[in-house]
Amino acid sequence: MSRVYHPSSHVVEKSRLSSFNKYKEMHKKSLEQPEEFWSEIAKDFYWMTPHEPGKFLSYNFDINKGDIFVKWMEGAKTNITINILDRKVRDGFGDRIAYYWEGNHPEDYSRITYKKLLEQVCKFANMLRSHGVGKGDRVSIYMPMILETAVCMLACARIGAIHSVVFAGFSSDSLAERMSDCKAKILVTADGAWRGEKLLILKNTCDEAMEKARTKLNHTVEKCIVVAHLDRVTPCGPISDDVRTLYKWNDGVDLWWHEVIKDQSIICAPECMDAEDPLFMLYTSGSTGKPKGVLHTTAGYLLYATATFRYVFDYDAKDIYWCTADVGWITGHTYVVYAPLANCATSVMFEGTPFYPDNDRYWEVVEKYKVTQMYTAPTAIRSLMKFGEQYLAKHDLTSLRVLGSVGEPINPEAWYWYYNLVGSGRCSIVDTFWQTETGGHVLTSLPGATPMKPGAAGFPFFGVEPIILDENGKVIEGPGEGYLVFSRPWPGIMRTLYGDHERYQKVYFSKFPGYYCTGDGARRDEDGFLWVTGRIDDMLNVSGHLMSTSEVESVLTEDTRVSEAAVVSKPHPQKGESLYCFIILNEGVSFTPNLVNDLKKHIRNRIGAFAAPDVIQYAPGLPKTRSGKIMRRILRKIAVGDTDIGDTSTLADPSVVEELYKNRP
Ligand code: PRX
Repeated sequence: MSRVYHPSSHVVEKSRLSSFNKYKEMHKKSLEQPEEFWSEIAKDFYWMTPHEPGKFLSYNFDINKGDIFVKWMEGAKTNITINILDRKVRDGFGDRIAYYWEGNHPEDYSRITYKKLLEQVCKFANMLRSHGVGKGDRVSIYMPMILETAVCMLACARIGAIHSVVFAGFSSDSLAERMSDCKAKILVTADGAWRGEKLLILKNTCDEAMEKARTKLNHTVEKCIVVAHLDRVTPCGPISDDVRTLYKWNDGVDLWWHEVIKDQSIICAPECMDAEDPLFMLYTSGSTGKPKGVLHTTAGYLLYATATFRYVFDYDAKDIYWCTADVGWITGHTYVVYAPLANCATSVMFEGTPFYPDNDRYWEVVEKYKVTQMYTAPTAIRSLMKFGEQYLAKHDLTSLRVLGSVGEPINPEAWYWYYNLVGSGRCSIVDTFWQTETGGHVLTSLPGATPMKPGAAGFPFFGVEPIILDENGKVIEGPGEGYLVFSRPWPGIMRTLYGDHERYQKVYFSKFPGYYCTGDGARRDEDGFLWVTGRIDDMLNVSGHLMSTSEVESVLTEDTRVSEAAVVSKPHPQKGESLYCFIILNEGVSFTPNLVNDLKKHIRNRIGAFAAPDVIQYAPGLPKTRSGKIMRRILRKIAVGDTDIGDTSTLADPSVVEELYKNRP
């Protein structure tokens, strides 16, 4: 039985929602009276035309009744940038800092106010228009974490163009595939960026990608707009005197950002957008290999991003909020760009890594800006835990109030570390479960209102009705574990997959008609807390016992000698499936038969004899994507000794795979 943690007075005092009952009341209202509930949020924004009477929400979630669709505030017209920029300036917040930008090198930093941001957005939007980009056109963005990235996304929104940000760690093949899939007119990038001591020449990747798109995929990107970033930052490693010799310049195609915006006006008429007009698309990986272009629209996304940010981070004027996610992922879209601006927040945007120049960079940034809300990923927390507490001790972290986690289930060990050492036991942890597809948080704690359990995502956000189904689609009431699905749309849910509505219906709505299927498993405990147990494909059934790999991983990392664990299923002739575990050890610990026995015993004790793993293997590292997700597909192959592992180009460090094969017992 996990211990329940209640919000501390430090959090409750400032909270806009300070009791569990109040949360329950509001959640009930959000389900019973969605129009009243969401109209409260909508009234903070400007609508050129109101929505059509009686059409606040219409949807079909049941594939047997026809095509799936979701529409919020149909007929209402607005432009998201008016709401998150012009209105803030008009209301007197023009001089408020929108972003503090902190570079990879600690000596590089800057800031931008709401007024200045609006001006930059308008200039870039005018420039895009002058190149024939208009409503509905696609613009690909392959950028580091710099202010121009937000400017570019918002400029697209200003003129109704659909931005498609591709994380600037993807290969040229991936970028080419994504640009040609959406038929992007323009690509926006930077010459390069430093990540720690590593120099990335993004422009070269873009050149390769544009060439591949043209020659192999029959799509020509017309222009490539380049931010001259390297010239203005402090080098973090060896570099030739002139960075401009590191890449080619293609006359007629390439344009410098600073040159193309130079003479543009700071005024730009916003495009009039329907509530359901597309705002952006973002590719996410799919099980078939072809990425899925998740499409989000205007009004619903604005309402949902605004509300989740407001309640989940409990943002208050004068707070300094910091989300460490890259803009290349949905977390960066919603919680670096749209949601903080919609709430007129001041954010930190960070270009660097947690380990440069030293392993205390995160804590240095928290101290420097007096960060009140920090939002990061368990993978980052675990990698920082490894270095010990002394790095935290050097910094004053007392400004913190809310600590967010996202991207994967947070194992209790990491949770405790975050809670006790980073937050000194005074902060609320919000473990936010959501997906590229959901647009914003769907399961989470709320800082002053809900109790917390280490490792549990908590409760549904407003408008969200989670259901747990068994294999046969039967609803599991009360405590139980199964498929996590949602029975109705909230405003931020994606509307389709770009250019492939069929696939959208098939992937998300066909397994259990009537429900949006997340692909994740969840467990509801006796107290009603929801625990996300990992992707369904990470579920395994050992002798009839359904369990999740993340559950076992958590138990393994409870041993102080283990720094990280990944568990996969391996076919077993008697038990159906068995557990195969990979473990990374903390510095100075050796891998011995005793350690293996201890861990097996611990799992037996914590979960049950049926969960005892067949194999525990030493791992010097794990095959991870650049965003830090473990590629379990590869681990499953290693577990069975199959060397045909396919494409490893998306791995942050492909050499780790060879090591793992060598270490098989
Ligand atoms: O498996 C869940 C996991 O990440 C998946 C969504 O990945 P993506 O679309 O890349 O978006 C990540 C950022 C929102 C989910 O299906 N996931 C995300 N957050 C959590 C999580 N699993 C458990 N707990 C979370 N807090």
